[in-house]
Order: sequence, then C-alpha cells, then structure tokens
Amino acid sequence: MSESFDLIVIGAGPGGYVCAIRAAQLGMKVACVEKRATLGGTCLNIGCIPSKALLQSSENYEELVHKFADHGITAEGVKFDLARMQARKGEVVGANVKGVEFLFKKNKVTWLKGHGKIVSAGKVEVEGQVYETKNIVIASGSESVPLKGVEVDEKQIVTSTGALELEKVPGHLVVIGGGVIGLELGSVWRRLGAEVTVIEFLDRITPGIDGETGKMFERVLTKQGFKFKLKTKVTGAEKTEKGVTLTVEPAAGGTPEKIEADVVLLAIGRRPYVEGLGLDAAGVALDEKGRIKTGHSFETNVLGIYAIGDVITGPMLAHKAEEEGVAVAEILAGQHGHVNYFAIPGVVYTWPEVATVGFSEEEVKAAGVEYKAGKFPFTANGRARAMGDTDGFVKIIADKKTDKILGAAIIGPDAGTMIAELALAIEFGASAEDVARTSHAHPSLNEAVKEAALLVANGAALHI
Ligand code: FAD
Ligand code: NAI
Repeated sequence: MSESFDLIVIGAGPGGYVCAIRAAQLGMKVACVEKRATLGGTCLNIGCIPSKALLQSSENYEELVHKFADHGITAEGVKFDLARMQARKGEVVGANVKGVEFLFKKNKVTWLKGHGKIVSAGKVEVEGQVYETKNIVIASGSESVPLKGVEVDEKQIVTSTGALELEKVPGHLVVIGGGVIGLELGSVWRRLGAEVTVIEFLDRITPGIDGETGKMFERVLTKQGFKFKLKTKVTGAEKTEKGVTLTVEPAAGGTPEKIEADVVLLAIGRRPYVEGLGLDAAGVALDEKGRIKTGHSFETNVLGIYAIGDVITGPMLAHKAEEEGVAVAEILAGQHGHVNYFAIPGVVYTWPEVATVGFSEEEVKAAGVEYKAGKFPFTANGRARAMGDTDGFVKIIADKKTDKILGAAIIGPDAGTMIAELALAIEFGASAEDVARTSHAHPSLNEAVKEAALLVANGAALHI
C-alpha cells in the first residue's frame, strides 16, 4: 500500500502550492501532485512571471529609446539582444520555480511527480500508484480558449505560451482579443518594434474594466501605436510561407476583409482545465461553463473533494487562487478561512498600468446604488510630472450616503502598486474621508489617491 496523507492537492500553481504550504503549516501531512517538470503552475512557468520579465525588459528599452531624451539623456546606437532577454526571462522563471521547490522541502510537502487522477473520494492515482488521503483539493488551473478556424501551432499562430517564446520580433503581430494577455504581450512586441493590430469582438477593449478607464486605456495605447479593430470577428486563418492570412468581418456580419500577419496571437480568454482528472468517475459536478462547482467552503458536490483557483468560478488571477488556497487549508484545519472577493485587485501590467478593485461605475449604476465618484488626473500630481508620466487618473467610487468606498480604478504609472492602498481601504470598510484624512508622503504618486478621495468626501480636491 502506498503512503497516505491528510491532504492531496492536485496542481502546483499559485492555488495548489500555497494551499499545500498553508495546510502543512497547520499540521497536516500534505502531498501535491504536479505533472509539469517544475512547480509553480501556469503563473510561474508560462504566465505572470515570464510575461512580467519581458514587459520589464521591453519597457527598459522603450524608455531608453523614447523617454530619456526628454530628461536630457541621449544614448546612441541603442540595441537589444532578444536572445539575452529571453535567457534572462528563463533565469527569472527558474529562480521562482526553484523557490517553490525549496518551500515544499522547508514545509515538508511531498511533491508527487506525474499526472493525478481521482479514483474516488479519498484516493488519488499518480503514475500507477494509488495514495489514500482524508481530503483532496483540485487546483488544476486553466488553458487557452481555442477559436474555430484558427489552428494554434505555437510558431506562427500562438497562444500566450508561444508569444512568450518568439525568437524574432514579428513585423506584424495580429492579436485576436483585446483583453489582458493581448495588451500585455502586444505591448512587449510593439516596444521591440512590431506593428500590432488588435482584433476585438466587442466595441471596447478590456470589457471587465470601468468604462471610462477602458476608454482612456484605448486612447493611450493608440497613441503608443496599437491599432484596434473593434466590433470585428475572425472567421478564418490560413498559413502561408510568409505568415498568416486572416479573414475578418464586422461582428454583426458584413463584407469580409483579409489581414496579413507574421504572427497571430490568440488571446480570447482561458477556460478551466479538468482533463484526465477522473471527475466523471468520482461524480464531481461541473457548471454550465465547465468549471468545477463549489459551495461556500470550496467543497464540491462530493464529500472530501474541494476545488480552488482558475478551475472554479471567479476572476482567473494568481492572487485570487492563492487566497482560496489559504482559505481552504484553514477550513480543513477547522478554522474560518474566507476570501473577500470584493477586495481582490486586478492589474494590467502595460505602461501605464491599469488597476481596479471593487465595483466599476457601470456595476454600481446597474445595481441601483446611489453613489458619488471622484477622479484626479496625474497631470496635477507633482511626482508624475517629475517622472514625465502624466497619462491617467485615479477614480474612486463611494456610497452617496455612507461615504464607504465601493470601488476604484487607476490608470497611470505604477497603478498596480498604488491600488493596494484602496484594496486595503475596502478590506477595512473605509470611507473616502478615511483615505482623504490619511497623510500621504509628498511628492508621491499616491497623493493622487488622497486627492480623488477628497473629491469624493468633500466635493473638492486641493490641487485641482
Ligand atoms: P495554474 O497556475 O494553472 O496551475 C495548475 C497546475 O496544475 C499546472 O501546473 C498543471 O500542470 C497542474 N495540473 C493540472 N491537472 C493536473 C493533473 N491531473 N495532475 C497533475 N498536475 C495537474 N494572474 C495574475 O494574477 N497576475 C498576472 O500578472 C498574470 N499574468 C498572466 C499571464 C499569462 C500569459 C497567463 C496565461 C496568465 C496570467 N495570470 C496572471 C493568470 C494566472 O496565471 C492564473 O490565474 C493562475 O496561474 C491560476 O492558478 P491555479 O493554481 O488555479 O492554476
Ligand atoms: P480576457 O478575458 O482578458 O480577454 C479576452 C478578450 O477577447 C475580451 O476582450 C473578449 O471580448 C475578446 N474576445 C472573445 N472572443 C473573441 C473573438 N472570437 N474574437 C475577438 N475577440 C474576442 O482573456 P485573455 O486576455 O485571454 O486572458 C485570460 C485570463 O488570464 C484573463 O482573464 C486573466 O484572468 C488572466 N491574465 C491576467 C493577467 C494579469 O492579471 N495581469 C495577465 C494575463 C492574463
């Protein structure tokens, strides 16, 4: 008989590995099954971390070429070495995934290498061995959504995985989908010299984001050179010797048009990954979108089988998966783990960055809540002027009667770092006045948060 555990986690992404570590900290005997050669899941291997490494390298290059001259700094013969950039990305990923391996050893989590299949509640099969366990947490993540007629080969027609591995800057990169992946990876290749066209089915990019912020985002990216074809659908992709010929037409139907691309990036969303998990045999139910159905405590319809992260409902974000990993481990230890979904920030790591938390103005309106909003532009922030980064604003939405903060959106330099203040404010149930009365260092970008809060609380900011 193989070894038995208190908990077996399937998948070592941010949901699974964090769950395994927290459960071990709480005294459980834990194993984590991972079939990839390294730990860390999509996020560390082919998602968050490699994309941010390339975003940083390409942003450094763009700053040197386009932004430094304004500061009186000129550099001649600036070049980049794509092979070195890619190698550095690999080193960054390597350090992160090794870090998780170290954490597993430190916390005595057993890594069961291979594909995990649930035999039944309490039994998981890995590479022909069956392990017994009191509980199972599924954290199997997600995969790219395919598109009929656009066959991915990860060379000419790529998903994010192939777009992170290109060995040559494409002359023309056509992105299908104006969402987070398309705009982040589109930014990487545009900065390095590609012409980038984004084909989006809807009439706007980043559909989940506050409308006014999304519009500003589109304007800024257009200024940077992005071309957008909104309300457009792709009906076919034909590979040629030189690249790919796409056939597109208006979303509502109409005259088709051909677009030539060197590389096509398909980024129209991600879907839950449940292949080979044995869910049917175990009787685990899925919802209408193919996600594993869970109740309040992350338990599926089968006693002792839980699920977290991208494979269940909610935003497909690494930190959301991590929060759920901690919560389910604490619940299994008899504690009161919970996740406040209202306070989970979302960040697009372009430049400027776009960050949101809580409700958008559209959501508040649709819910019929009486609200007030304050918007402070970075053009009126001293630090942003000193940086030469004045595109964007901070927008805060609060309940009209109670002044409680309901949501926020920031587009601007380091928005992804700045949003943490507003996520904390929401977590603590703060009012706009609480934020407005908090001393903010001068000169800092976060003063724009204080000023937006003043606009909401007092109806007047100090510096505009
Ligand atoms: P995953 O990270 O997908 O991990 C699941 C793991 O389970 C995988 O390693 C898989 O091999 C393994 N697995 C699956 N089935 C089995 C099985 N049967 N047996 C064994 N192993 C199995 N999110 C952010 O918050 N910030 C970002 O900046 C960000 N950038 C991204 C960039 C890109 C290009 C992509 C694609 C995603 C990005 N995301 C980002 C999303 C983020 O990666 C996911 O939300 C996160 O990885 C989800 O974590 P997870 O643990 O649910 O699943
Ligand atoms: P997405 O959901 O962000 O965007 C997909 C876009 O494609 C939407 O605008 C949608 O309207 C459009 N679309 C859908 N079908 C289409 C079609 N047939 N033709 C044209 N457009 C179409 O999905 P994306 O960009 O693939 O990213 C997947 C997920 O990965 C994100 O939702 C996010 O959760 C996660 N992610 C997070 C990042 C971050 O936090 N910084 C970075 C990258 C990914």
